[in-house]
Amino acid sequence: MSKIKTAFFCQQCGYESAKWSGRCPSCGQWNTFVEEKIQKDVPLRNTSWKQPELSAAGNNNIINLAAVNGAEEERLLTPDAELNRVLGGGIVPGSLVLVGGEPGIGKSTLFLQNALLLTHITTLYISGEESAQQIKMRADRLKIQNDQFFLLTETSTQTIFQEIKKLRPQLVIVDSIQTLQSPFIEAAPGSVSQIRETTAEMQRFAKETHTPVFLIGHITKDGAIAGPKILEHMVDTVLQFEGDQHYAYRILRTIKNRFGSTAELGIYEMTGQGLRQVTNPSEILISQREDQLSGIAIAATMEGMRPMLVEVQALVTQSVYGTPQRTATGFDLRRLQLLLAVLEKRGGFHFGVKDVFLNIAGGIRVEDPAIDLAVLCALLSSYEDVAIAGNICFAGEVGLSGEIRAVNRIEQRIAEAEKLGFEKIFISRYNKKGGHTGKFDIEVVPVGRVEEVYRQLF
Ligand code: TYD
Ligand code: MG
Repeated sequence: MSKIKTAFFCQQCGYESAKWSGRCPSCGQWNTFVEEKIQKDVPLRNTSWKQPELSAAGNNNIINLAAVNGAEEERLLTPDAELNRVLGGGIVPGSLVLVGGEPGIGKSTLFLQNALLLTHITTLYISGEESAQQIKMRADRLKIQNDQFFLLTETSTQTIFQEIKKLRPQLVIVDSIQTLQSPFIEAAPGSVSQIRETTAEMQRFAKETHTPVFLIGHITKDGAIAGPKILEHMVDTVLQFEGDQHYAYRILRTIKNRFGSTAELGIYEMTGQGLRQVTNPSEILISQREDQLSGIAIAATMEGMRPMLVEVQALVTQSVYGTPQRTATGFDLRRLQLLLAVLEKRGGFHFGVKDVFLNIAGGIRVEDPAIDLAVLCALLSSYEDVAIAGNICFAGEVGLSGEIRAVNRIEQRIAEAEKLGFEKIFISRYNKKGGHTGKFDIEVVPVGRVEEVYRQLF
């Protein structure tokens, strides 16, 4: 009943087509179609509707929802509080979690470390990327002993499932999904149809046995998890491990989570003995400095649900070229250009003849709009060459007409700034409605426009 067939798959979005075409009709990308051999099972169509055996008690495909045991199964807590939080409170039995990240960022380290720390359950770590010796060396480096940790260096899903049946692990980690190969599909490992099939097999295994499965996945150049987009739909949770290779800090972010909030994130530091949880990120992100330097402003940002104080560094210099340069690291370049335009138009500053360099310290990337005010003040501080006092921080979004807009969770931001010893925080006047001033020891300065901030600082 089956025959070998080939089909064309868009390597970008996973769209399947019988014919090759230059442009994918689904995602609009050019030159993404690759022919892959697939083996299609054509099942016997059940065309007869005549014998409905629904009345028989033996039918177990259709379930009465009322009869389903709705109690939430107990989650498996890992010793890693950051990972637990990112997963929404521990590992859900039978869940399929996809973890993406650039090569070398520390995905294998993170999951090897966590699996080794889970000494009370049987864990199977399937690696198609490293040999047993390499993993052993890494485990020795992490200095964790665990005799319930098993290793399988295999890529064929058929063999993997045979081994799983023998071992009956309570947690399975696959490193990586791009190396797996299903014998039912002819295409090469890492191709769209292989990834789709092997993920589906893993999903079936996870759901039927209630075993949690973690799939580690590679990331393409533009930051998406390699493989079809549908991969993200097939799994319950998608995590992303990110960070700058040149810095030690790593952020584990939730992109999708069927069992919890996507606003959570975990912060780690890569050390000689693996990843270390960072429980107080603000302290490390603000550089210790003795003397006051111009061009530095501290922003009270939120990363997910967590307040975090970050240091914004700006350098504004006379431009030597005809076209002034603008560079931003850790901050959106277009947003920087927008803020410069606001300063030019509303404040009368001549940034048009200046080179502007902006950097968020610590190698992290901030997308919270509340960082705007600190960016703007760092730019002004460097422009004027006047340092901002080290005990001041900022939280506010800047609008196109130079107004300082309200930001969310202002109380948490103020509380964090206070905890870290700041004495003054500039916030939007429109945030003041709640009347936070009395509640904190830190001085809360409400401002409505960029000019007001300028007048108070310089
Ligand atoms: P790895 O987990 O192999 O990355 P991925 O699986 O995401 O490709 O991490 C590799 C990097 O981590 C490598 O550059 C070395 C570094 N590392 C440490 O700094 N300390 C350690 O204890 C370990 C195990 C790795
Ligand atoms: Mg790896």
